[in-house]
Amino acid sequence: MSRYIWLVLLVLGGCSQNQRTASEATASDSSWSVPGGDSGKTYFSALEKINRTNVKTLGLAWEFDLETGRGQEATPVVVDGVMIVSSNLGRVYAIDAATGSEIWRFVPQVDMQVNRTVCCDQVNRGVAIRDSRVYVASLDAVLYALDFGTGKVLWQADTIDGEDRGQHISGAPEIAGDVVVIGNGGAEFGVRGYVSAYDLETGELRWRFYTVPRDPKLGPQENPELEEALATWGEDARWEMGMGGTVWDAIHYDPEFDAVYIGVGNGGPYHYKKRAPSGGDQLFLSSLVALDPENGRVKWYYQQTPGDSWDYTATQPMVLTNLEVDGETVPVLLHAPKNGFLYLFDRRDGSLLRANPIAYQNWANGIDPETGRPNVREDLVDYIDTPRIVFPATPGTRNWHPASFNPQTGLYYASVSEVGNLMFTFPGYPPYLPKSVTHDAQLVYTSDLLNMLPALPPPIRDAVEQSPELERVKNGKTGGYLRAIDPLTGETRWEVENSSWQDRAGVLSTAGGLVFNGDVTGRLSVYDTESGERLHSIETGTSIIAAPMTFMQDGEQYIAVTAGWGGGGWPYVPKHSAAYRYENRGRLLVFKLGGKSVPMPQERPPLEVATEPPPIPEGTDLANGTALFFQHCTLCHAHSPRTISADLRRMRPEVHAIFDRILLDGVFVGAGMPRWDDVFSKDDVRDIHAYLITEQQKVRASELALQEKGLPLNAEPSRVLSSY
Ligand code: HEC
Repeated sequence: MSRYIWLVLLVLGGCSQNQRTASEATASDSSWSVPGGDSGKTYFSALEKINRTNVKTLGLAWEFDLETGRGQEATPVVVDGVMIVSSNLGRVYAIDAATGSEIWRFVPQVDMQVNRTVCCDQVNRGVAIRDSRVYVASLDAVLYALDFGTGKVLWQADTIDGEDRGQHISGAPEIAGDVVVIGNGGAEFGVRGYVSAYDLETGELRWRFYTVPRDPKLGPQENPELEEALATWGEDARWEMGMGGTVWDAIHYDPEFDAVYIGVGNGGPYHYKKRAPSGGDQLFLSSLVALDPENGRVKWYYQQTPGDSWDYTATQPMVLTNLEVDGETVPVLLHAPKNGFLYLFDRRDGSLLRANPIAYQNWANGIDPETGRPNVREDLVDYIDTPRIVFPATPGTRNWHPASFNPQTGLYYASVSEVGNLMFTFPGYPPYLPKSVTHDAQLVYTSDLLNMLPALPPPIRDAVEQSPELERVKNGKTGGYLRAIDPLTGETRWEVENSSWQDRAGVLSTAGGLVFNGDVTGRLSVYDTESGERLHSIETGTSIIAAPMTFMQDGEQYIAVTAGWGGGGWPYVPKHSAAYRYENRGRLLVFKLGGKSVPMPQERPPLEVATEPPPIPEGTDLANGTALFFQHCTLCHAHSPRTISADLRRMRPEVHAIFDRILLDGVFVGAGMPRWDDVFSKDDVRDIHAYLITEQQKVRASELALQEKGLPLNAEPSRVLSSY
């Protein structure tokens, strides 16, 4: 283990209603029956009862407890007066859309050990509904078909392709013709990415499309497209690493062209040379791929980030619409992946129509109009030998937070982050371990870089000081923005700045001239689609990251949004967030005109000085404990107060007393704290415990000093330990 490792950073029920029949999702369906609102997933609604003139009276109609302290990313759907919403782990609730009373609930039996390979919280991003069936996937990657009327399981399918269980699912299934398609996450855990299609009625596997080739020694590839893709990987590719390319979010069926578009994730490990030293584009990583829903064969593809080394997933949500492009109305696909560009494709043949940056990026010197290839600035962003400041950072200019395309204004409303990161590697770190984080790159976000600089080892500090990007780090924009963007040019028409680049949330726009967007401070804001003027805001006391939706019920228009901090970076609770101040209990909030104010959740008790830890046991190997902690625990534990997964520097005596049982017997497995008896010896556990005791001693000493001076205990910056 490197002595610099501590720097690793950074970034930081019952059934009360008769059987109902669910209608099919159509674009004209004002009841919002698919997570994106319509078959184009525009997150636009033609409803205008709530509009510029009256939105000021918008207030709470009803709320629903989602029964968890973990993140909420799903957009509810409403079909025939029933709201269906998914929550963490793949739980589903059916609720009377007008009153908020529960009709049924589905709680999957989840193998909680899955958490060990879940990067970004136990979130779930939604359901698909067709013919009286609700489809949802659980965190441990089982796809379920539920009865719409009762919530009973009709069939279930284990979506894992073999023994290897580095996968998990957080995304929503997508219906394409007579199949339901689902992907998975796990690119950082030695997984080979794929999507699977199941028969809607029986749950039988119809086809599976792998996003990266397999080791050719194992025999031919599963289809001819993968044989071709093989040529884009070096002969020296280390196939045992899986290579990533997981499809953890956007899967989009296009009925007009009978295609399933998937966004393929990043490569794992991050740097392309670690996957295949001789390089190559490494298809289909970081690509948009159009598949035939009949057989899963490739119709067309476009690789957005060839040879991805920066965690530039292409899994971000897409919008299908028609746009006037160069004098012609064209069926288009709008897509803003992590890499900073907004792409416009012609859905007829997949040709690239536009690619414009929507935030500062430095990895590509534009896209060559002839070849459609980005001109990758290897000189500026290849960090294998030299630390580099790369824009955007690994969390991306855009992430999973849905954007809204409004056909009336022609604008694309999206949460955009302006942030880069310093990337560097330690030779050989971390060693490749199956089902363990394969991160080979260390990251420092540009928002923290100047503060961190003095603490960085000299060669890394020197590289930062000589970087052509240092000026931008000092004086450039760093933040999170709600932007109204012209999809043809990428230009921002108006923007609203949020409290930090981590402050981003899904967007809804409506024909009432309104844009709805929540934030992590717990505010739901409503803006004018044309001017960006804030027309109304509602304090909810719960951090919002999901996208709102709207529906009509009995003549009343409602706005609904799920609230709860979590997702990528979930262990780190920003100090300005509602999750820091209040209990982070997930809730579904539903608003109407003339509604009331939202009851605030319970405030968290004031921070107390960390208790005196027990003495360090004799004979411990602190270096071993530190290394094991950073390798296995920082995925979920941040050295930061009020972290959702417990700040291990402030364990109470009764927790110290059962420390080994927590790790080896799994006493908290049900709460999401995995067991590790297959990984650690008793001595390892003692060493990790010793490391944490030293951290608790340090934090206690500094807090006692702060208390003496009458200063708040959280005055010091938190140390975010994982790169998610
Ligand atoms: C997959 C996420 C995850 C990983 C990885 C993880 N933990 Fe946890 N851990 C949790 C969660 C969530 C809790 C809180 C459980 C609860 O609410 O009771 C927790 C709680 C704990 C607690 C109890 C703390 C207290 O004050 O109640 C200890 C001790 C602990 N973890 C140690 C570790 C150690 C050591 C590692 C690394 C070997 C580790 N954890 C890795 C998620 C994780």
